[in-house]
Amino acid sequence: TAHNDNSRGSLIVLEGLDRSGKTSQSNRLVTFLKEKGLSVEFWRFPDRSTSTGQMISAYLANESQLDDRAIHLLFSANRWEKRSLMESKVMSGTSLIIDRYSYSGVAFSAAKGLDLEWCKAPEVGLIAPDLVIYLDISAEKAAERGGYGTERYEQLEFQKKVMEHYRTLYDASWKIVDGGLPVETLEEQIREIALGCILTCQKGKPLSELWH
Ligand code: TMP
Repeated sequence: TAHNDNSRGSLIVLEGLDRSGKTSQSNRLVTFLKEKGLSVEFWRFPDRSTSTGQMISAYLANESQLDDRAIHLLFSANRWEKRSLMESKVMSGTSLIIDRYSYSGVAFSAAKGLDLEWCKAPEVGLIAPDLVIYLDISAEKAAERGGYGTERYEQLEFQKKVMEHYRTLYDASWKIVDGGLPVETLEEQIREIALGCILTCQKGKPLSELWH
């Protein structure tokens, strides 16, 4: 995976239910890729540092109430704010490992009963990930992992619905891994899948956009 001067980086997204292990696996992957000498950054959505991110954070903590469509559009805007930076990073050779993306946006809002196509519309034109790694784990098993926290969506029945909606978003960029595997075993699988993707992108696979 030697890095050519003008080869692009990869956009790799980790998705899954709350407590599926995405965040720790993302961090492990970033550490591994950095040790291999690759240019890589860890990103996450929602990005709670921006002003839309602060509104989202207050909503998730139940400190504010928002219409279901309003919060959906805020999550989407929170990704649009980062689109140009994302593109320039990837095109200049940095790979981004991203904890959640538009798939969370659609699956969580659709689980509230919003129309799937309506949910997808504001995401159209965002950069499509080169790879989506879905950490597959049942809502029950996720809940057993020290229990859910106190954030708005961390409830068993809701997470079951989210999972059903994730399933409808599956496409060729997805790789489903077993989120119930021991951490190191899963880490090994994720490394291999990610390295394969990075190599393909270095060889010139074009960037594409979501859901046209
Ligand atoms: P986090 O725990 O990964 O920070 O995500 C916060 C919550 O926000 C999580 O329950 C998933 C949800 N979410 C959405 O509803 N829409 C989105 O677009 C994103 C990125 C997350």
